[in-house]
Amino acid sequence: IRARITVDLDFVLSDLDRRVFGAFVEHLGRCVYGGIFEPGHATADERGFRGDVMELTRELGATIIRYPGGNFMSGYDWEDGVGPVAERPTKLDLAWFSTETNRFGTNEFIDWCKAAGVEPMLGVNLGTRGMDEARQYLEYCNHPGGSHFAELRRSHGYEAPHDVKFWCLGNEMDGPWQIGAKTAAEYGRLAHETAKAMRWIDPTLVLSACGSSHRQMPTYGAWEYEVLDRCFEEVDVVSLHTYFANKADEIDEYFGVIDRMDLFIKEVASICDAVAAKRRSSKRIMLSFDEWNVWYKANTIEHMRKPGWPVAPALLEEVYNMEDALIVGGALITLMNNADRVKCACLAQLVNAIGPIMTETGGPAWRQTIFHPFALAARHGQGRVLQTKIETPTVATKTIQDMPLLLASVTEDPATGRLSIFSLNRSPTETIEVDVDLHGFDARIELVEALELHHANLKATNSKAAPDTVVPLRNDEVQVSGTTLRASLKPLSWNVLVLQ
Ligand code: AHR
Repeated sequence: IRARITVDLDFVLSDLDRRVFGAFVEHLGRCVYGGIFEPGHATADERGFRGDVMELTRELGATIIRYPGGNFMSGYDWEDGVGPVAERPTKLDLAWFSTETNRFGTNEFIDWCKAAGVEPMLGVNLGTRGMDEARQYLEYCNHPGGSHFAELRRSHGYEAPHDVKFWCLGNEMDGPWQIGAKTAAEYGRLAHETAKAMRWIDPTLVLSACGSSHRQMPTYGAWEYEVLDRCFEEVDVVSLHTYFANKADEIDEYFGVIDRMDLFIKEVASICDAVAAKRRSSKRIMLSFDEWNVWYKANTIEHMRKPGWPVAPALLEEVYNMEDALIVGGALITLMNNADRVKCACLAQLVNAIGPIMTETGGPAWRQTIFHPFALAARHGQGRVLQTKIETPTVATKTIQDMPLLLASVTEDPATGRLSIFSLNRSPTETIEVDVDLHGFDARIELVEALELHHANLKATNSKAAPDTVVPLRNDEVQVSGTTLRASLKPLSWNVLVLQ
């Protein structure tokens, strides 16, 4: 079957904020302990940071990492995780029914981010605590000195402020599972006052209010409206969360999650603008999709809770397959195609707990299938996103009448002149012969790289024993002639074509 993509250098959707290639490290299962941090591991440095995980994080290309949760954030006392390790208390974590040793805390996380070359994103506890703790935590992290909490940081060996710019005002405050869940009215007001105080300490912050925990929440929509109506003046972004599932085990239906993600983004943007319209305000609240991924195999109660309050149990250890990688690749296309509103996004999470990286405690680390589309998008998604006109056959699924078989996103980097075309062929049977018309480009443009992610078995996985079962391979079926490109995209494949 045939399809056509047309782009024009003059038709730019938006600059692409590199924060859309973020990830997430929560004190959850083996994400911290046995994931990024494992003193005594063969690859660990003197601080206990696993070298193999650090290297894979760099290769993944994550730009910003959210910490310390998630649900964990809503019961966390940040003071427990700073200062001399021997004096740190061991506490129960009610989010994941685990025992938290606090061996790893904020300063270790900041050190780890520096070593990994990523920006830290922190969150304040608006579950069990509130604005007082938030302003103290911020003072500890960002104030240079001369005040109690800034001096406390300096006494802990951190002379210079951490200068963390991006802060989450709580986590999933609408969820009954959240410690200290709130109504929209309660949370909206708390977010407003907390943001106000935080901004007085540091006016350069990006502050993120909690949107709904997911699009199926009974209060979805009304929650966003009321929360933003109460904190509109003080916040910059609102969060979105979603976890994709292939419950029916039907690939067509599964693909629909990508279209619904797009809808979700557009709906939340509309609500933000409705709140602005009520105020006749030109301010635009942007979106932070700070939790997204596939998660449905390891989300039973047995995967979320282990008896006996264990330390760093194996939780949410989802094993990703080929079709999950297609979904993650499609979601990345959607995030890029909404670059005018989505200014940040975090793949949840980074390692072991629903992570693109998997480790064995005491053993090796490897790339899960979903690692690959993420790493390629993070490497090649640079500069700005162009508007795309896509002519493609569609199919009718049970839930979507006209589901386009070809999805694509195109970025162009004015600094280098590089053009990257990301595409997903959702046909289970047909190769797509796609023509890409590049209006306004130099006819001397050449193909630099063409990669495809494809495997005949949709259930194929990567594992310790076979870590490279699903990997991107070269696509030789691409020709460029002047400003026209023709490529063959295999059925059920995710592709990246780079030109310069
Ligand atoms: O990412 C796992 C959990 O999912 C997070 O802790 C929470 O915010 C969400 O419900």
